[in-house]
Amino acid sequence: MTEPEAKLEALLDIINSSARQAIVEYKKTGHGVPGADATTFHPLDMATDTIALRKAIRLLEGAYHQLSAILAPPQHTVMNFVFNYNWACTNVALRARIADVLEQHPEGLSVDRLADAVDLDKSNVARILRVLSLMGCFKEVKRDVFANTRLSLILKSTNNTGCYAHFHSRHIAKYAGVLYETMIDQDFSRSHELDKAPRVFACRKEGLSDSYWETIKNDDERRDIFHRGLLGHGEMMGTSAVLHRYPWDNVSSVVDVGSGIGAFSIPLATMFPHLKITNHDLPEVIVQAQNAWEKNAPEALLDGRVELVPNNFLEDIPVFGKDVYYLRHIIHDWPDAEATAILRNIRKAMGPNSVVLIHDSVLFHAFQEPGVGTNGLSVAPEPMLPNFGAGSHRVYQIDLTMWFLLNSKERTLDEMKIIAQVSSNIS
Ligand SMILES: C[S@@+](CC[C@H](N)C(=O)[O-])C[C@H]1O[C@@H](n2cnc3c(N)ncnc32)[C@H](O)[C@@H]1O
Repeated sequence: MTEPEAKLEALLDIINSSARQAIVEYKKTGHGVPGADATTFHPLDMATDTIALRKAIRLLEGAYHQLSAILAPPQHTVMNFVFNYNWACTNVALRARIADVLEQHPEGLSVDRLADAVDLDKSNVARILRVLSLMGCFKEVKRDVFANTRLSLILKSTNNTGCYAHFHSRHIAKYAGVLYETMIDQDFSRSHELDKAPRVFACRKEGLSDSYWETIKNDDERRDIFHRGLLGHGEMMGTSAVLHRYPWDNVSSVVDVGSGIGAFSIPLATMFPHLKITNHDLPEVIVQAQNAWEKNAPEALLDGRVELVPNNFLEDIPVFGKDVYYLRHIIHDWPDAEATAILRNIRKAMGPNSVVLIHDSVLFHAFQEPGVGTNGLSVAPEPMLPNFGAGSHRVYQIDLTMWFLLNSKERTLDEMKIIAQVSSNIS
């Protein structure tokens, strides 16, 4: 066998074994595997600890994209990068609430009636749904009759990941559209300052100058979609696994710094009722958080196990002397200077036994700094890229979201260590 053939065979083996591993994970639930025509979620879709499934899918996605890129003509693969209007079609489906309408018609609804219900042109609706149906999101059950699928249920207005998709496909796509212009603009091109994000460049063209956080402060609907979207971010990335993988039994008090509406600490309070929890966020978010706690964990409020306290983490010191200061998707929102300021403020609040937990994705480039090794991170088997290639798609895309929106980034473990080190030098 030639070396190129051996590599193809190795990729086929990875695809086979990782797909089988995923099947095992589904079957462990006792509910079998998801059907190709499933129209409901599988219980594993809602599970909070899915690390084994995610590891299998990371291998599967990385290996099949690599295999396809080797075997397909390069013209085909590169144009696939560009011919990708799924985000625009998804945005239409979300904003027109097509999945909500179809939910009332499990057997399917004619495109005439569907288009009437969402007040759009029927041929346009059909084109959009046919594009998404190629990927299993919606299904044409018979000619011109569409129904929901397990994927399109994500696009219901009540779905958190749908909110996350809404936020991305509606706003971030616009900032991505001026990326090159931002990169060659004299003021913006080499700046790592907060106010030199592509978002700022795009907004200035429209005469808008608010910071991102001010924008959502002044727009209730947008803030609601953003915060529900954060719940969806967690569902997409599987971050709730931390509820199962950290020894919370050995902790008494937790400060959720930049808590949002309690995406992490509401389930934490429910699973670990012994914990005293503080939520810190901006005042308008704390109001929203109060509603979310009242709805989802009123007993924690009544028992006084949770306190919701406005706090500007760039300027204020959080509550003193708690066991854990937890920051999920906070540090990745900020350039190095602000990230350091946030950690410095936390440091001032910490007691001798306090710890800081930073929960962000970790970038792992194909080539690490010499001598650094893998930093304890998993490495993909050859011939895959060590960082799993396309299996790391979402992490690298979110890194770009952070840039477009806030001129910030996902970091490597070493970049994170440098920030922690600098922050710990209190003058
Ligand atoms: C990406 S969200 C993460 C929310 C939450 N930790 C989670 O995992 O869902 C960032 C949070 O930081 C908050 N935030 C932004 N600027 C802040 C500031 N200056 N002080 C405190 N919170 C802030 C936002 O309101 C938002 O809730």
